[in-house]
Amino acid sequence: MEFYLINGGPRKKYSTAKLLNKVHDGINDELTKNNIGEFNINTIMLYNLDYKGCKSCFHCKKIGGKYYGQCPIKDDLRELLPKIHESDAVVFASPIYFGDVTGQLRSFLERLIFSKLVYGRESLAEKKPNAIIYTMNATKEQADAMYENTLFKPFESALEYNFGKPYSLKIYDTYQFKDYSLYENYLFDEKEKAKTLEEQFPNDLNSAYNLGVKLARDTL
Ligand SMILES: Cc1cc2nc3c(=O)[nH]c(=O)nc-3n(C[C@H](O)[C@H](O)[C@H](O)COP(=O)(O)O)c2cc1C
Repeated sequence: MEFYLINGGPRKKYSTAKLLNKVHDGINDELTKNNIGEFNINTIMLYNLDYKGCKSCFHCKKIGGKYYGQCPIKDDLRELLPKIHESDAVVFASPIYFGDVTGQLRSFLERLIFSKLVYGRESLAEKKPNAIIYTMNATKEQADAMYENTLFKPFESALEYNFGKPYSLKIYDTYQFKDYSLYENYLFDEKEKAKTLEEQFPNDLNSAYNLGVKLARDTL
């Protein structure tokens, strides 16, 4: 069995990466508990890969064409995209940057999703358990007001069209800097952030672990 965890953020040791590590653990534990002998949980750091977004070449839609349903661009996504489409489950994770997932994740999804999109018909992509994890400075109240209709709903309906309804995990009020005293900031109170980190983030990690368990169960 193959699982893909796609990190759309640049940082390897901060909230987004930590949450994905917990998803990894949840999948690993659940599959091991069910005596699944062979499985791979592949974590992909998009910022380590060299690629751009869709170029609108439409080879993926050309009737009878060599690349129908595939993205023909020869770069670091050429071999990865089919592996994700053939996998058993996929999890995307991204910090919110300016009210959206990162540009890196958007460019990646243009390539992953558009090649399987058929105008006016079902996607060519195979349905599979899938999830999106967002991390952000915003509180739940702020995110509900600002991002529900502009980000969460449209993003998740794009995932649903392709892979089926995604699980959605939203992680609010994250701890952004290693040391708040070193960076200019008049908005966030370091003590409040530290409190959230200490009291809420462990619950968030637990939610990510449980998400991994659920995804693994869905594949059995
Ligand atoms: C360029 C940039 C833009 C950001 N824009 C937003 C935003 O629009 N809304 C928000 O809530 N947080 C925003 N943030 C904060 C990040 O989403 C938040 O710190 C996130 O948890 C970072 O994930 P990481 O710690 O895994 O890197 C932004 C951060 C950066 C660096």
